[in-house]
Amino acid sequence: MTSLTTPQTILTSAEEFDFENFTFGSTPTDHLFFANYDNGSWCNPRVEEFSNLSLSPFSLCFHYGQTVFEGMKAYRISEGTINIFRPDRHLARMNRSLARMCMPEIPKDLFLTGLEAIVKADHSWLPDGKDKLALYIRPFVIATEPRLGVKVSDTFLFCIACTPITQYYNKPLRVKVETEFSRSSEGGVGYAKCGGNYGGAFYPTYLANQQGFDQIIWTDASTHKFLEEAGTMNIMVIADGKLLTPPLSSSILDGVTRNSLIQLCRDLGILVEERRISVAELANTLAHNEHVEVFGAGTAAIVSPIASIHIDGVDYHPYTGVNAVMYHLKNELEKIRRGRKPDTHGWNYLVNI
Ligand code: COI
Repeated sequence: MTSLTTPQTILTSAEEFDFENFTFGSTPTDHLFFANYDNGSWCNPRVEEFSNLSLSPFSLCFHYGQTVFEGMKAYRISEGTINIFRPDRHLARMNRSLARMCMPEIPKDLFLTGLEAIVKADHSWLPDGKDKLALYIRPFVIATEPRLGVKVSDTFLFCIACTPITQYYNKPLRVKVETEFSRSSEGGVGYAKCGGNYGGAFYPTYLANQQGFDQIIWTDASTHKFLEEAGTMNIMVIADGKLLTPPLSSSILDGVTRNSLIQLCRDLGILVEERRISVAELANTLAHNEHVEVFGAGTAAIVSPIASIHIDGVDYHPYTGVNAVMYHLKNELEKIRRGRKPDTHGWNYLVNI
């Protein structure tokens, strides 16, 4: 009965998959990694063939949002080697998210065991010689205790799923600066990668889509005067030869791509300012300078150029031409993680297959 009413995930083998033409996130790879949390510790790590989960409808994750996830990437470096990009930083963020959601942290050896096992099991999803292709890795933890009472779950499931990815956004974005709805307030869960942050953004994003925008740039919840992030990515501006980006706070996700691009700028001698950027400052800068770049930075988004920004009824058009610094930053980052430039910061975690 349930299998008739529940859409089943569409499964394809890597050999049959069309790597030139696909929609991100619709096709899983062949395997899943699992571990269970029970009686106060993580146990039973294992790789299984992909299949749907079977959970009690009472499971706490369905009702009170005790869910956390990460978004990471792996790259084929050579026939026998896959690179998982910055797993240590993703784990640190995941554990901060888990702590905020009152969920048990994942030990480093369990995380790395899971990542290595899944990329080994699914390495055929990263065929050699595909320049734009990466494996998107989605570790997540959900509360599984079957209870309708509002409580912290006593049991959890840790799962790692994967799907192929090229570029999440395939054209420069039209965005609006949101000054009515808020994504997160100070002291809230904005810095945590928990499911509710994304679900809460759906309605304002839906309204923005109706108005012809692809995405929203959120502003601070108390004044709506300062830029925060874009929900699916951090926001960065290149103006006067400097990189500007809002500082991390309890309402902004500590993006791994954000951190990597800041480091690359420093390596390249580009000044970086992590500071509050007011909506008024951005509008003024865009109105008076020809070369201002605005882009989103994220694991899935990589570097996503913003072609138009709607602020207080006016559309501004940041520079997206071939000389944009953001493309150079993106290329530098891609070269490092695809093994074409020395990894001077120790970001690459190489797995032999
Ligand atoms: C990521 O970049 O990994 C995210 O979680 C954002 C989402 C757009 C896939």
